[in-house]
Amino acid sequence: MKKENEIRFDDQVVIVTGAGAGLGRAYALLFAERGARVVVNDLGGNVHGQGGSTNSADQVVSEINAAGGIAVASYDSVVTPEGGVSIIDTAVQHYGRVDVLIHNAGILRDKSFLKLEEDDVRDVMDVHLNAAFWVCQPAFELMKQQNFGRIAFTTSASGLFGNFGQANYGAAKTGLIGLMRVLSIEGARYDIKVNCVAPSARTRMTEDLLGPLTERLDPRHVAPLIAYLCSRQCEFSSEIFSAGGGRFARVFLGLGPGWYSGGEIVEPETVAEHIDSIRNVDNYIIPKTGNEELEILLSTLGIKP
Ligand SMILES: NC(=O)c1ccc[n+]([C@@H]2O[C@H](COP(=O)([O-])OP(=O)(O)OC[C@H]3O[C@@H](n4cnc5c(N)ncnc54)[C@H](O)[C@@H]3O)[C@@H](O)[C@H]2O)c1
Repeated sequence: MKKENEIRFDDQVVIVTGAGAGLGRAYALLFAERGARVVVNDLGGNVHGQGGSTNSADQVVSEINAAGGIAVASYDSVVTPEGGVSIIDTAVQHYGRVDVLIHNAGILRDKSFLKLEEDDVRDVMDVHLNAAFWVCQPAFELMKQQNFGRIAFTTSASGLFGNFGQANYGAAKTGLIGLMRVLSIEGARYDIKVNCVAPSARTRMTEDLLGPLTERLDPRHVAPLIAYLCSRQCEFSSEIFSAGGGRFARVFLGLGPGWYSGGEIVEPETVAEHIDSIRNVDNYIIPKTGNEELEILLSTLGIKP
Protein backbone atom coordinates (compact mmCIF):
# COMPACT_ATOMS: atom_id res chain seq x y z
CA MET A 1 0.00 0.00 0.00
CA LYS A 2 1.31 3.47 -0.91
CA LYS A 3 2.12 5.71 2.02
CA GLU A 4 0.91 9.29 2.09
CA ASN A 5 3.74 11.61 0.96
CA GLU A 6 5.59 8.65 -0.43
CA ILE A 7 8.49 9.75 -2.57
CA ARG A 8 8.08 8.09 -5.97
CA PHE A 9 9.69 8.42 -9.39
CA ASP A 10 7.13 6.43 -11.39
CA ASP A 11 7.03 8.57 -14.53
CA GLN A 12 10.59 9.71 -14.23
CA VAL A 13 13.91 8.86 -15.79
CA VAL A 14 16.99 8.97 -13.61
CA ILE A 15 20.63 8.87 -14.73
CA VAL A 16 23.32 7.89 -12.24
CA THR A 17 26.94 8.14 -13.39
CA GLY A 18 29.36 5.68 -11.80
CA ALA A 19 26.42 3.51 -10.77
CA GLY A 20 28.17 0.17 -11.23
CA ALA A 21 29.48 0.04 -7.68
CA GLY A 22 29.52 1.68 -4.26
CA LEU A 23 27.33 4.70 -3.70
CA GLY A 24 26.08 4.99 -7.28
CA ARG A 25 24.81 1.42 -7.17
CA ALA A 26 22.93 2.15 -3.93
CA TYR A 27 21.36 5.24 -5.53
CA ALA A 28 20.35 3.34 -8.70
CA LEU A 29 18.75 0.52 -6.69
CA LEU A 30 16.72 2.94 -4.55
CA PHE A 31 15.48 5.00 -7.50
CA ALA A 32 14.45 1.82 -9.33
CA GLU A 33 12.67 0.54 -6.23
CA ARG A 34 10.77 3.84 -6.16
CA GLY A 35 9.54 3.40 -9.71
CA ALA A 36 12.14 5.27 -11.79
CA ARG A 37 13.51 4.07 -15.08
CA VAL A 38 17.22 4.20 -14.45
CA VAL A 39 20.28 4.64 -16.66
CA VAL A 40 23.12 2.83 -14.89
CA ASN A 41 26.23 4.48 -16.28
CA ASP A 42 29.63 3.02 -15.47
CA LEU A 43 32.89 2.70 -17.32
CA GLY A 44 33.88 -0.23 -15.11
CA GLY A 45 37.50 0.81 -14.52
CA ASN A 46 39.56 0.54 -11.36
CA VAL A 47 39.58 3.03 -8.52
CA HIS A 48 42.44 4.97 -10.17
CA GLY A 49 40.50 5.32 -13.41
CA GLN A 50 42.35 2.68 -15.41
CA GLY A 51 40.78 -0.04 -17.54
CA GLY A 52 37.13 -0.59 -18.29
CA SER A 53 34.49 -3.30 -18.42
CA THR A 54 30.78 -3.64 -19.04
CA ASN A 55 30.41 -5.99 -16.06
CA SER A 56 29.68 -3.57 -13.26
CA ALA A 57 26.92 -1.62 -15.05
CA ASP A 58 25.43 -4.89 -16.36
CA GLN A 59 25.41 -6.40 -12.91
CA VAL A 60 23.51 -3.48 -11.39
CA VAL A 61 21.00 -3.54 -14.26
CA SER A 62 20.49 -7.27 -13.61
CA GLU A 63 19.95 -6.63 -9.90
CA ILE A 64 17.36 -3.95 -10.69
CA ASN A 65 15.60 -6.18 -13.22
CA ALA A 66 15.60 -9.12 -10.81
CA ALA A 67 13.84 -6.94 -8.25
CA GLY A 68 11.19 -5.99 -10.84
CA GLY A 69 12.67 -2.60 -11.71
CA ILE A 70 13.53 -0.97 -15.04
CA ALA A 71 17.07 -0.04 -16.00
CA VAL A 72 19.48 0.16 -18.90
CA ALA A 73 23.28 0.11 -18.87
CA SER A 74 25.52 2.82 -20.30
CA TYR A 75 29.25 2.17 -20.53
CA ASP A 76 30.35 5.62 -21.71
CA SER A 77 33.06 7.48 -19.89
CA VAL A 78 31.87 10.77 -18.46
CA VAL A 79 35.14 12.53 -19.31
CA THR A 80 34.33 13.81 -22.79
CA PRO A 81 31.53 15.95 -24.21
CA GLU A 82 30.69 13.05 -26.58
CA GLY A 83 30.47 10.68 -23.60
CA GLY A 84 28.12 13.09 -21.83
CA VAL A 85 25.87 13.38 -24.88
CA SER A 86 25.85 9.61 -25.33
CA ILE A 87 24.81 9.00 -21.70
CA ILE A 88 21.90 11.42 -22.02
CA ASP A 89 20.99 9.93 -25.43
CA THR A 90 20.79 6.47 -23.85
CA ALA A 91 18.10 7.80 -21.51
CA VAL A 92 16.22 9.56 -24.31
CA GLN A 93 16.39 6.62 -26.71
CA HIS A 94 15.20 4.09 -24.15
CA TYR A 95 12.85 6.12 -22.00
CA GLY A 96 12.12 9.37 -23.85
CA ARG A 97 13.22 11.90 -21.24
CA VAL A 98 15.57 12.85 -18.38
CA ASP A 99 14.23 14.08 -15.05
CA VAL A 100 17.08 13.46 -12.66
CA LEU A 101 20.84 13.42 -13.10
CA ILE A 102 23.24 12.33 -10.40
CA HIS A 103 26.88 12.86 -11.22
CA ASN A 104 28.61 10.39 -8.93
CA ALA A 105 31.39 8.81 -11.04
CA GLY A 106 34.76 9.20 -9.41
CA ILE A 107 38.37 8.09 -9.18
CA LEU A 108 41.26 8.73 -6.83
CA ARG A 109 44.95 9.51 -7.42
CA ASP A 110 46.05 10.42 -3.92
CA LYS A 111 49.54 11.89 -3.57
CA SER A 112 50.99 14.71 -1.54
CA PHE A 113 50.95 17.97 -3.49
CA LEU A 114 54.56 18.03 -4.73
CA LYS A 115 54.33 14.46 -6.03
CA LEU A 116 51.31 15.09 -8.24
CA GLU A 117 51.99 14.64 -11.93
CA GLU A 118 50.09 16.22 -14.78
CA ASP A 119 47.96 13.12 -15.39
CA ASP A 120 46.99 12.88 -11.72
CA VAL A 121 45.62 16.39 -11.83
CA ARG A 122 44.04 16.24 -15.27
CA ASP A 123 42.37 12.83 -14.91
CA VAL A 124 40.87 13.60 -11.51
CA MET A 125 39.60 17.00 -12.69
CA ASP A 126 38.19 15.33 -15.80
CA VAL A 127 36.13 12.67 -14.01
CA HIS A 128 34.82 14.72 -11.11
CA LEU A 129 34.58 18.30 -12.33
CA ASN A 130 34.83 18.59 -16.11
CA ALA A 131 32.54 15.60 -16.57
CA ALA A 132 29.85 17.44 -14.63
CA PHE A 133 29.79 19.96 -17.49
CA TRP A 134 29.65 17.23 -20.14
CA VAL A 135 26.78 15.30 -18.59
CA CYS A 136 24.88 18.35 -17.35
CA GLN A 137 24.84 20.39 -20.55
CA PRO A 138 22.71 17.98 -22.62
CA ALA A 139 20.56 17.09 -19.59
CA PHE A 140 20.02 20.76 -18.67
CA GLU A 141 18.81 21.48 -22.19
CA LEU A 142 16.09 18.82 -21.87
CA MET A 143 15.20 19.84 -18.32
CA LYS A 144 14.80 23.45 -19.45
CA GLN A 145 12.44 22.42 -22.27
CA GLN A 146 10.28 20.36 -19.90
CA ASN A 147 10.41 22.91 -17.06
CA PHE A 148 11.59 20.38 -14.54
CA GLY A 149 14.83 18.80 -13.46
CA ARG A 150 16.78 17.67 -10.45
CA ILE A 151 20.57 17.40 -10.39
CA ALA A 152 22.81 16.16 -7.59
CA PHE A 153 26.59 16.39 -7.50
CA THR A 154 28.87 14.37 -5.28
CA THR A 155 31.25 16.61 -3.42
CA SER A 156 33.51 15.54 -0.56
CA ALA A 157 34.68 16.50 2.91
CA SER A 158 38.09 16.43 1.30
CA GLY A 159 37.29 19.52 -0.73
CA LEU A 160 34.98 21.19 1.77
CA PHE A 161 37.29 20.83 4.76
CA GLY A 162 40.59 19.46 3.37
CA ASN A 163 42.43 16.16 3.51
CA PHE A 164 46.13 15.36 3.24
CA GLY A 165 47.20 13.97 -0.14
CA GLN A 166 44.04 14.97 -2.02
CA ALA A 167 44.84 18.35 -3.61
CA ASN A 168 43.61 17.22 -7.04
CA TYR A 169 40.51 15.50 -5.70
CA GLY A 170 39.67 18.21 -3.15
CA ALA A 171 39.95 20.98 -5.73
CA ALA A 172 37.75 19.08 -8.21
CA LYS A 173 35.13 18.34 -5.56
CA THR A 174 34.94 21.97 -4.47
CA GLY A 175 34.74 23.10 -8.09
CA LEU A 176 31.42 21.28 -8.18
CA ILE A 177 30.09 23.67 -5.53
CA GLY A 178 30.71 26.61 -7.87
CA LEU A 179 29.01 24.82 -10.75
CA MET A 180 26.05 23.96 -8.52
CA ARG A 181 25.67 27.60 -7.45
CA VAL A 182 25.50 28.91 -11.00
CA LEU A 183 23.28 26.12 -12.36
CA SER A 184 20.88 26.71 -9.47
CA ILE A 185 20.54 30.35 -10.49
CA GLU A 186 20.29 29.60 -14.24
CA GLY A 187 17.85 26.73 -13.62
CA ALA A 188 15.59 28.48 -11.11
CA ARG A 189 12.91 29.66 -13.56
CA TYR A 190 12.64 26.16 -15.06
CA ASP A 191 12.23 24.33 -11.73
CA ILE A 192 15.69 22.83 -12.11
CA LYS A 193 17.19 22.30 -8.68
CA VAL A 194 20.82 21.42 -8.08
CA ASN A 195 22.26 20.29 -4.76
CA CYS A 196 25.46 18.62 -3.53
CA VAL A 197 26.08 15.71 -1.19
CA ALA A 198 29.35 14.93 0.58
CA PRO A 199 28.99 11.24 1.45
CA SER A 200 30.86 9.01 3.87
CA ALA A 201 30.46 5.36 2.92
CA ARG A 202 32.23 2.05 2.80
CA THR A 203 33.17 1.47 -0.83
CA ARG A 204 36.29 0.32 -2.62
CA MET A 205 37.41 3.96 -2.53
CA THR A 206 37.42 4.12 1.23
CA GLU A 207 37.60 0.52 2.48
CA ASP A 208 41.17 0.92 3.76
CA LEU A 209 40.60 4.31 5.34
CA LEU A 210 37.59 3.99 7.60
CA GLY A 211 38.93 1.80 10.40
CA PRO A 212 36.28 1.20 13.06
CA LEU A 213 33.68 3.11 11.04
CA THR A 214 33.75 0.55 8.19
CA GLU A 215 30.88 -1.54 9.49
CA ARG A 216 28.66 1.46 10.12
CA LEU A 217 28.97 3.22 6.78
CA ASP A 218 26.78 1.27 4.41
CA PRO A 219 26.31 3.27 1.15
CA ARG A 220 22.56 2.71 1.55
CA HIS A 221 22.61 5.30 4.35
CA VAL A 222 23.35 8.05 1.79
CA ALA A 223 20.81 7.06 -0.87
CA PRO A 224 17.66 8.38 0.89
CA LEU A 225 19.05 11.94 0.95
CA ILE A 226 19.95 11.77 -2.73
CA ALA A 227 16.44 10.48 -3.48
CA TYR A 228 14.82 13.29 -1.50
CA LEU A 229 16.98 16.00 -3.09
CA CYS A 230 16.06 14.66 -6.54
CA SER A 231 12.36 14.34 -5.86
CA ARG A 232 9.55 16.69 -6.84
CA GLN A 233 9.08 17.32 -3.11
CA CYS A 234 12.47 19.03 -2.82
CA GLU A 235 11.91 22.77 -3.13
CA PHE A 236 15.37 24.19 -2.47
CA SER A 237 18.48 24.40 -4.58
CA SER A 238 22.17 25.24 -4.18
CA GLU A 239 22.63 23.52 -0.83
CA ILE A 240 25.30 21.12 0.43
CA PHE A 241 24.76 18.17 2.75
CA SER A 242 26.95 15.70 4.56
CA ALA A 243 25.55 12.18 4.84
CA GLY A 244 26.84 8.91 6.20
CA GLY A 245 26.02 6.14 8.65
CA GLY A 246 22.53 7.57 9.26
CA ARG A 247 23.62 11.15 10.10
CA PHE A 248 22.43 13.87 7.73
CA ALA A 249 23.62 17.47 8.11
CA ARG A 250 23.77 20.68 6.14
CA VAL A 251 27.13 22.23 5.23
CA PHE A 252 27.12 25.90 4.32
CA LEU A 253 29.22 28.87 3.33
CA GLY A 254 28.45 31.83 5.53
CA LEU A 255 29.48 35.45 5.65
CA GLY A 256 30.51 36.95 8.99
CA PRO A 257 29.29 40.42 10.00
CA GLY A 258 32.77 41.78 9.22
CA TRP A 259 34.41 45.05 10.15
CA TYR A 260 33.89 48.27 8.16
CA SER A 261 36.59 50.92 7.84
CA GLY A 262 34.00 53.60 7.21
CA GLY A 263 35.10 53.75 3.59
CA GLU A 264 38.74 54.69 4.26
CA ILE A 265 41.60 52.88 2.51
CA VAL A 266 43.40 51.45 5.54
CA GLU A 267 46.95 50.34 6.30
CA PRO A 268 47.79 46.62 6.77
CA GLU A 269 48.36 47.44 10.47
CA THR A 270 44.72 48.53 10.73
CA VAL A 271 43.69 45.13 9.36
CA ALA A 272 45.92 43.52 12.01
CA GLU A 273 44.26 45.63 14.70
CA HIS A 274 40.78 44.53 13.63
CA ILE A 275 41.55 40.97 12.57
CA ASP A 276 39.45 39.42 15.35
CA SER A 277 36.36 41.32 14.20
CA ILE A 278 37.11 40.51 10.56
CA ARG A 279 37.37 36.78 11.39
CA ASN A 280 34.37 36.75 13.71
CA VAL A 281 31.60 34.43 12.52
CA ASP A 282 28.99 35.18 15.17
CA ASN A 283 25.74 36.29 13.52
CA TYR A 284 26.80 35.05 10.10
CA ILE A 285 24.56 35.25 7.06
CA ILE A 286 24.25 32.58 4.36
CA PRO A 287 23.91 34.50 1.07
CA LYS A 288 21.85 32.60 -1.50
CA THR A 289 23.59 34.19 -4.49
CA GLY A 290 26.58 36.36 -5.33
CA ASN A 291 24.17 39.27 -5.81
CA GLU A 292 22.83 38.81 -2.32
CA GLU A 293 26.37 39.11 -0.98
CA LEU A 294 26.80 42.28 -3.02
CA GLU A 295 23.57 43.70 -1.57
CA ILE A 296 24.92 43.08 1.94
CA LEU A 297 28.08 45.01 1.01
CA LEU A 298 26.04 47.87 -0.45
CA SER A 299 23.97 48.02 2.71
CA THR A 300 27.14 48.15 4.90
CA LEU A 301 28.41 50.97 2.69
CA GLY A 302 25.08 52.74 3.06
CA ILE A 303 24.29 52.55 -0.66
CA LYS A 304 20.76 51.78 -1.81
CA PRO A 305 20.79 48.97 -4.43
N1 LIG B 1 32.91 6.57 -0.34
C1 LIG B 1 33.05 7.71 0.29
O1 LIG B 1 33.12 7.78 1.54
C2 LIG B 1 33.10 8.98 -0.48
C3 LIG B 1 33.40 10.17 0.21
C4 LIG B 1 33.36 11.37 -0.48
C5 LIG B 1 33.04 11.38 -1.83
N2 LIG B 1 32.79 10.21 -2.47
C6 LIG B 1 32.45 10.28 -3.89
O2 LIG B 1 31.33 9.46 -4.13
C7 LIG B 1 31.35 9.03 -5.51
C8 LIG B 1 31.18 7.52 -5.58
O3 LIG B 1 32.34 6.91 -5.04
P1 LIG B 1 32.35 5.48 -4.35
O4 LIG B 1 32.91 5.69 -2.99
O5 LIG B 1 31.04 4.82 -4.52
O6 LIG B 1 33.51 4.77 -5.18
P2 LIG B 1 33.45 3.60 -6.29
O7 LIG B 1 34.83 3.49 -6.82
O8 LIG B 1 32.82 2.39 -5.71
O9 LIG B 1 32.45 4.17 -7.39
C9 LIG B 1 32.83 5.07 -8.39
C10 LIG B 1 32.31 4.53 -9.71
O10 LIG B 1 32.58 5.49 -10.73
C11 LIG B 1 32.93 4.78 -11.90
N3 LIG B 1 33.71 5.62 -12.80
C12 LIG B 1 34.98 6.05 -12.64
N4 LIG B 1 35.38 6.77 -13.70
C13 LIG B 1 34.33 6.78 -14.57
C14 LIG B 1 34.12 7.38 -15.84
N5 LIG B 1 35.10 8.07 -16.44
N6 LIG B 1 32.93 7.23 -16.45
C15 LIG B 1 31.93 6.52 -15.85
N7 LIG B 1 32.09 5.92 -14.64
C16 LIG B 1 33.26 6.05 -14.00
C17 LIG B 1 33.75 3.61 -11.38
O11 LIG B 1 33.85 2.56 -12.34
C18 LIG B 1 33.01 3.23 -10.12
O12 LIG B 1 32.07 2.21 -10.34
C19 LIG B 1 32.68 9.54 -6.08
O13 LIG B 1 32.45 10.74 -6.77
C20 LIG B 1 33.51 9.79 -4.84
O14 LIG B 1 34.51 10.74 -5.08
C21 LIG B 1 32.81 9.02 -1.84
